[in-house]
Amino acid sequence: MEIKTLIAQIVDEAVQEAFPGVETGVNYEALLEVPPDSKLGDFAFPCFKLSKALRMGPPVIAQKIAAAINHPETCTAQPVNGYLNFFLNRENFAADTLKKVMAAPEKWGGGQDGAGKTVCLDYSSINIAKRFHIGHLSTTMIGHSLRRIYDFLGWKTVSINHLGDWGTQFGKMICAYKKWGVREDVEKGGVDEMTRLYVRFHEEAKEDPTLEDEGRAWFKKIEDGDPEALEIFNWFKEVTLRDAMKVYDILGVSFDSYAGESFYNDKMGRVIDELKEKGLLEDSDGAKIVNLEEYKMPPCIIVKSDGATIYATRDLAAMLYRKDTYHFDKCLYVVAYQQDLHFRQCFKTIELMGYDWAKDLEHVAFGMVSYEGQTLSTREGRVVYLEDLLRRAQEKALQIIEEKNPNLENKEEVARQVGIGAVVYSDLQNSRIKDIDFWWDRALNFEGDTGPYVQYTFARCCSVLRKAGVQTAAPDYSALCDDEAQYILRLLARFPEDVRAACRSNEPYIITRATTELAKAYNKYYYEHRILDGDEGAIAARVQLTDAVHCVIRTGLYLIGMEAPERM
Ligand code: ARG
Repeated sequence: MEIKTLIAQIVDEAVQEAFPGVETGVNYEALLEVPPDSKLGDFAFPCFKLSKALRMGPPVIAQKIAAAINHPETCTAQPVNGYLNFFLNRENFAADTLKKVMAAPEKWGGGQDGAGKTVCLDYSSINIAKRFHIGHLSTTMIGHSLRRIYDFLGWKTVSINHLGDWGTQFGKMICAYKKWGVREDVEKGGVDEMTRLYVRFHEEAKEDPTLEDEGRAWFKKIEDGDPEALEIFNWFKEVTLRDAMKVYDILGVSFDSYAGESFYNDKMGRVIDELKEKGLLEDSDGAKIVNLEEYKMPPCIIVKSDGATIYATRDLAAMLYRKDTYHFDKCLYVVAYQQDLHFRQCFKTIELMGYDWAKDLEHVAFGMVSYEGQTLSTREGRVVYLEDLLRRAQEKALQIIEEKNPNLENKEEVARQVGIGAVVYSDLQNSRIKDIDFWWDRALNFEGDTGPYVQYTFARCCSVLRKAGVQTAAPDYSALCDDEAQYILRLLARFPEDVRAACRSNEPYIITRATTELAKAYNKYYYEHRILDGDEGAIAARVQLTDAVHCVIRTGLYLIGMEAPERM
């Protein structure tokens, strides 16, 4: 339990004892303040809010409550005017916190909250025959982080890459390949070569409109399961995934399932039949739709007038399939906020079908990425490919290491961890709905709120621990009563609550912030205290504090998908 919660409980009990039977209706924890100067106490409780219910002046109330408090092991309380000032028993707080953290340091913050529950996470979900660009970074990293967070809290997680592998463009691409393509070129050039063929198709189709018909015919062949069409299409998919895998490997991302849009080809009949049966399907200019007017949304189109199904039909089929297959308690869609309407339409349709688990579907939306002040646009050729970005990040990190620490062992490996970490950190630094503007200077700075800063602090802890060696003396926790150590201890104590808050709101940045705050607090401590000086017991306590910080930073970094180099 967080120390603030504990103090609030103590106040609550004391009020009940001092004023039996009175309902104050007050949230004690919300009222607890942190005084600007720790000489005034670690916490302060203003008694003004109780005046009305207790019909007494705040100073008297403060005195009566203080008299009813008897928890010297946790804190003492002093009434000062209308305030109740709390002084923690700092030594006990240090001992308690560190004992709890160090009992299983790598598990601190985790738990079994989600035991027996399953969460499906749909993220990354890239499109076949397109290169992985930085527009897909957020979905990939937010999803990856959430998966780790849910795992850490005992959920069973199913990570799904809902590939965009369906659409008429694939017919055109096959057509172009059959006309002008060379197998080896596609094998070698990968997605770039497919794009080249696709662009050529459009250019030539301007001259020769019959190409469009040929493209459509090839798409029809894929739909009908023609062996040649399928063979080429599946091979395109393989080649795209091979390229994407390189990026996933660099980022440490993996998936349990790659069932994408085409996987649902034979599963949409059920959606259509069920909608019909339940009286939800309406005809509209030849198309079949679910009318959502009542919910102030445009209709959810299920079958277009030409008989084709759409993105939404596939998502509805996927929802039913995932529920049947994984029996999820939650199904998250980590997708850009532009698709908000799409998901609201799908979720509402599932609800109208009578499925109460519609409430377990959630769109985890995020904002746009721009690059050094420029919005990205495929059409205008302003794209930043993820592979290039990650490569440059590693190069730049290596440059910095060459300047700062040229004798470092495994420079390349550390540059990889730092460069990738810088990119990941800047992606998960703020609330996901905020747009992100990526700047190299900002991301790779070793000062301030950056990935390298947190990693550097971690390496600093490792270095202190190496120097300290094994401590044989019993820790003397009275050495950890200063403000700086106490602040670290509070952050450590509340880390489990941060992890839960991140999970509840599907917001990895809560962990990014908590971890950064811990790093800052430790650096402050490091500059103001001599960790390895003084008597053995004091050293042992400060080393233990360092050890706890080191474990929790590592966990925090892991949860947002970053690595923690031991030397930098
Ligand atoms: N492939 C889509 C895109 O890149 C995202 C798919 C998201 N997942 C889903 N189940 N609709 O925009």
